[in-house]
Amino acid sequence: MRVHGWLPSALLLCLAGHSLAVYKPDYDAHDYYAVHLRSGQQPEHVAQQLDLHYEGPLGELEDHYMFRRSTTEHAYDHIKSEKEALRLRRRRREAGAEEAHILDHMLWTQKQDLAKRFKLEKRGVIPAWPRQDMPVPALVQEGLQIAKEMSISDPIFQEQWHLYNHVQPGHDINVTGVWAQGVTGKNSTVCIVDDGLDMDSDDLKANYFREGSWDFNDQVQDPKPRLSDDHHGTRCAGEVCAARNDVCGVGVAYDGKISACRILSRVISDADEAIAMNYAYQQNQIYSCSWGPPDDGQSMEQPGLLIRRAMVNGIQKGRAGRGSIYVFAIGNGAANDDNCNFDGYTNSIYSVSVGGIDRKGLHPYYSEKCSAQLVVTYSSGSGDAIHTTDVGKDKCYSNHGGTSAAGPLVAGIYALMLEVNPDLTWRDIQWLTVLTALKIDQESDWMPNKAIGKDFSHQFGYGKADAWALVEGARNWTNVKPQAWYYSPWMHVKHAIPQGDQGLASSFEVTADMLKQANLERLEHVTITMNVEHTRRGDLSVELKSPSGMVSHIATHRRNDEWEGGYVDWTFMSVAHWGEPGIGTWTVIVKDTNVNDHEGKFTDWRLRLWGESIDASIQGVLPLPKEGDDDAHDIITNPDVTTTSVAVPTETGKPDGNPEDHQHRPVNSKPTSTSSPSLDEDEKEGKEPTTTSTPTATPSPSPSTKPSSALLPHIFPTFGVTRSTQAWIYGSITLIILFLLGLGTYWFVQRRKRSWLRREDYTFEMVDHEGAADEEPGAGAGTANGKGRRKRAARLYDAFAPAGSDDEEGDAFHVGSDTGSESDGEEDSGEKKGLVGARIGEGKGSDRYRDDDPRREGADVP
Ligand SMILES: *[C@@H]1O[C@H](CO)[C@@H](O)[C@H](O)[C@H]1NC(C)=O
Ligand SMILES: *[C@@H]1O[C@H](CO)[C@@H](O)[C@H](O)[C@H]1NC(C)=O
Ligand SMILES: *[C@@H]1O[C@H](CO)[C@@H](O)[C@H](O)[C@H]1NC(C)=O
Repeated sequence: MRVHGWLPSALLLCLAGHSLAVYKPDYDAHDYYAVHLRSGQQPEHVAQQLDLHYEGPLGELEDHYMFRRSTTEHAYDHIKSEKEALRLRRRRREAGAEEAHILDHMLWTQKQDLAKRFKLEKRGVIPAWPRQDMPVPALVQEGLQIAKEMSISDPIFQEQWHLYNHVQPGHDINVTGVWAQGVTGKNSTVCIVDDGLDMDSDDLKANYFREGSWDFNDQVQDPKPRLSDDHHGTRCAGEVCAARNDVCGVGVAYDGKISACRILSRVISDADEAIAMNYAYQQNQIYSCSWGPPDDGQSMEQPGLLIRRAMVNGIQKGRAGRGSIYVFAIGNGAANDDNCNFDGYTNSIYSVSVGGIDRKGLHPYYSEKCSAQLVVTYSSGSGDAIHTTDVGKDKCYSNHGGTSAAGPLVAGIYALMLEVNPDLTWRDIQWLTVLTALKIDQESDWMPNKAIGKDFSHQFGYGKADAWALVEGARNWTNVKPQAWYYSPWMHVKHAIPQGDQGLASSFEVTADMLKQANLERLEHVTITMNVEHTRRGDLSVELKSPSGMVSHIATHRRNDEWEGGYVDWTFMSVAHWGEPGIGTWTVIVKDTNVNDHEGKFTDWRLRLWGESIDASIQGVLPLPKEGDDDAHDIITNPDVTTTSVAVPTETGKPDGNPEDHQHRPVNSKPTSTSSPSLDEDEKEGKEPTTTSTPTATPSPSPSTKPSSALLPHIFPTFGVTRSTQAWIYGSITLIILFLLGLGTYWFVQRRKRSWLRREDYTFEMVDHEGAADEEPGAGAGTANGKGRRKRAARLYDAFAPAGSDDEEGDAFHVGSDTGSESDGEEDSGEKKGLVGARIGEGKGSDRYRDDDPRREGADVP
C-alpha cells in the first residue's frame, strides 16, 4: 500500500477518542480566539500570560487552540491589541521589550467574529415545480422482483426511481446489481454536515453513529433537528443510509452508518466549522455537504483559513491518512448565472462537486455549470423529485430536490465503494469518479479529454455517477501515487481588458523539466489564482486553455453581479484537464463581453498544477494553507516570466535558467523557519523572505537582528540596513543600470521595426502553436530560438506601453518594471528611480495588504 503518512495517522487514531472531547463555546457570553502556536508551546501557559482562558485544542488541527475571554466586546481584539502594545514598546526600544515574548510564539491568531460570517444556505430549497403523476409504471414488476430479491419491504421503495426507475429505464444510479452482490455500505460511515439528523426516526435510528456526531449549533452531542425548518439534513441522511425496514424507503448504502454535524441552524464561527469538517475523522469517512454561499449569482465567497486548513488536514490525516472524502452539492444558481467556481467550497480541489440531472436525464434549470464539476446524479425536475425520509417518527418526504439531493446520492455510492475497498485515498475516489462516469446523451459543450478518453462538459462534468461501475472499479483499483504540484511564478499582466468579443490573453509555458523537478507526472486539478480589477465583476469571464487545446471556462459572465471590485486573489479550479501531461503553453484569456462604462484591468495570475507524482518515495506533503499565500505576488519571483501579452498569439519568455524558482515552491520540504522568533513572524515560516525573490541572485538573507555593518567601502551609504539588504540594494541598482543600458541599445535597434505593432491591429484569436509558428519559423512550442524570442519580446514590450504613448522612457520603464521591480507599471515613466525607491521603501507599493496584515507591521520592526 502506498498510502503516505500512515503511521502517524495510526497514532492519531489511537488518540482520536481523547480529542473527541470538544470545547463547548457560548458566543453570547464570551469572546473566542483561535490561535496557532509554535510547536511545543503550552497553551495553558499562554493563557496565563495573556489573561485568557484556555478552552482546548481546535479540533484536529495540530498546534491550534481555542482561548476565551469572559467578555463580549465586539470591537476589541485582545490578542491584537497586546501585539500592538508590544510592537510599540519595541519600537520605542523600551527596556525588556526585545526579549522573547509569549506573543512571539503565536504564529496566527483570529478572533472569532460571527458577524463577519457569510451566510451558508441549504441547496434544496428551490421554487416548487409542477408535480406530475407519472404514467403507469411499465417496469413495476421488475421493481417488485428486485425488492423481493433484496428483501426490501420499505413502503416507498417503488417511488424511489433514483434507485430503480420503472418509468424511464436506465435513469437511476444503477445500484441494485451492487446490492445483489451483498454490498450495502457495511462498515462505511457518512457524516451529514447540515441542519441536523433525526436520530429518533425509525428509518435512521438503526444506522445512527452517535460517536461521529455533534451539534455545533447547540453544543450538545446529538444533532437533533430543533428548529421548524431543520428538515434538510434528515432528508439528505435518508438518501444515504435509510435502513432497510418497513419505514419509508432505503438509502443507497442502507447498511452503512450515518452521523451528523449540525452547523446550519445558526451562524457558527470559522473555528467551529473547522472542527466539524474534521469531526471524528478516523471514523467518519465521507462528509456530505449540501450547502454553501448563496447561489444568487452575486456571491463570491470562500471558506476562511481555518476551514481551509481543516480540509487539507482532513485529506492528509483523516481515515488513517487515506483522506476524508468531502462531497459538495454544486449549487442551484444556474438560473441566476451562478457558477460553482464562485464558491470556494465547491471549487476546492479537496471536494467532489456534484451537479444534478432529473429523472429523464435532462439538465434541470437550477444545476450550475462549472469547470470544477466532477460528476452529476439524479435529483428533482421533469415533474418529480427525490423520495426520502423526513423528520418525524416514520415520516417520509417526496419532494426533496435541488443539487442538495444529488450530493448525498454520490456520498452513498462512495460508502459502497469503501466497503469493497477501504484503502482508496481521497484522490482514488476522484479518479474512479472521473473514469467511470457515463456521458449524458444530450447536447452540451462536450469536449474530448484525450488524455483519459472521456468527454467533459461544464454542465455535466464527466457525466453521471454509476454505482455499479464505481464499485466494480473500486475493487481492483491500484492506488494512485501521492499528490505532487507545480506552482508557476506570478504572471504580471497589468493591462486593460478590451470590451466586446476580444479577450486579453496571457500565456505561460510549462516545460517538461519544471514538472520533472516538481515530481509531477500527470494532472488532476488545475487552479488559477488571479487578480482582475473591474468596476462590474459580472461582466467578466475567463477561459483557460491547456497545451492540448482543452478549454475550461473557469469564470463566466454573471448578469446580477454588480460588485465593483473584480477578482481579488481568487482561485478558480478546473477538472477538465484531468490526466493531461500539462507540458506546454497554458493561456488565460480574460474577457469583458458587456460593452458599457464598466472597465477593468487584468493584474496578474498564477497557475498551479496538481496531480500524481512521478516518484512516490520522495514526494512530501503539502503544508497547511497560510494567510496571504497569495499575497506573495507583490514580489516578482522570476522576472523572466512575469510578462503579459495582449490578444494576439504571443508567448511569454521562458523561465528556464532560473532554478531558484523551484526552490521557492513548497515541494518536498517545508522551508525552515528563521532563527529568532519575532513578533511579526506570523505564519512566515514557509514563506521566503521578501529579499530572496528579487532579481539579483543575492544569497537568501534571512531577516537578521544583528547590528548591520557596511558591505561596501563607506563612500556608499548603508541605508542603515543589514549587509545582506545592502547587497541586495546595490545588486539591484547595478543590475538595473546594466539592464537599462542594454535596453536602450535594444530599443534603438528595434525602433524602426515597430511600425507594424499597432494596438488597433490586435484582434482576438485563440493562441495556438500554429499561429505562433507562422511568425516564428523554426520556433516550436517548447523551443524558442533567439530570433523568435526577440520578436516576442517586442510584442510584449508594446503591450506594456500606455495607450497612445510612444514615449521611449515610458517603454523603457514598463519593460524595466517587468524585470524585477515591484513598482506598479503605471507609474510615471519619468520616475525611473522609483524602481529602486519602491523596493527600498519598506511597506510601500502593496496596497493589497489589508490594514491588519501582519506583514505590513513587519516593515516597522527592526
Ligand atoms: C448497471 O449494472 C449492471 C449490473 O447490475 C451492469 O451490467 C450494467 O452494465 C450497468 N449499467 C450501465 C449503464 O453501466
Ligand atoms: C470494519 O472496519 C474495521 C476497522 O476499520 C475492521 O477491523 C473490520 O474488519 C471491518 N469489518 C468488516 C466487516 O469489513
Ligand atoms: C478483480 O479482482 C478479483 C479478485 O479480487 C478478480 O476475481 C477479478 O477478476 C478482478 N477483476 C478485474 C477486472 O481485474
